[in-house]
Amino acid sequence: MLWKEKSEAQKSASDYIIRKADPRDAKGIINCMQSVMDERIYLVSEYYLLTERGEQERIRSPDDLTLVCERGSEIVGVLTIQRGMYRKNRHTANLGIAIKSGHRHSGIGTKLITQGIDWCSENGIKKLNLEVFSSNTNAISLYEKIGFVHEGSRKRQFIIDGEYVDDVLMTYWIGD
Ligand SMILES: CC(C)(COP(=O)(O)OP(=O)(O)OC[C@H]1O[C@@H](n2cnc3c(N)ncnc32)[C@H](O)[C@@H]1OP(=O)(O)O)[C@@H](O)C(=O)NCCC(=O)NCCS
Repeated sequence: MLWKEKSEAQKSASDYIIRKADPRDAKGIINCMQSVMDERIYLVSEYYLLTERGEQERIRSPDDLTLVCERGSEIVGVLTIQRGMYRKNRHTANLGIAIKSGHRHSGIGTKLITQGIDWCSENGIKKLNLEVFSSNTNAISLYEKIGFVHEGSRKRQFIIDGEYVDDVLMTYWIGD
């Protein structure tokens, strides 16, 4: 999918392409994820744990979806959906999303998540879960707008910059 946009922040027209990841994207995905992890306030892990080879294997897995958002030759956004690995939870999946600083609030997150939900629907997934820091109010607003509901929260699950933060559990129900 290709679309063009112009905003105050980005004076020149920018082309963003969303597509399924290819194993050759592994390095770009790792760079994108690591740059968001370096900000320290959005994701639990501060270091991307998969090697390039591990990332390639994950991309090839038929039970997972990896979408990337590209601008030019740079991967600026990544969405992962990982299906439950047991018979008892194969109807569920976990969503992760990260968009590089400088490319947020342009609609990329909405498009990535919407396409991820379509993939879940086509693949018989009934329940799409995510976890988000209670301090990440932008992300929570976006998830609510798309239709995710709050399932609960783990209180004081994290400490970020000396402050307690809850782990908010959200779900999108697909079908009946
Ligand atoms: C959270 C994230 C995925 C959202 O993606 P995005 O491309 O910025 O989101 P969109 O442009 O599609 O924004 C859609 C909605 O998000 C919310 N939102 C975005 N910016 C916001 C802001 N500054 N204040 C409040 N809400 C905001 C709004 O509901 C917005 O809808 P609107 O444009 O109609 O107002 C992205 O900002 C990101 O990767 N952040 C850092 C990493 C992260 O937090 N990952 C999620 C961890 S659970």
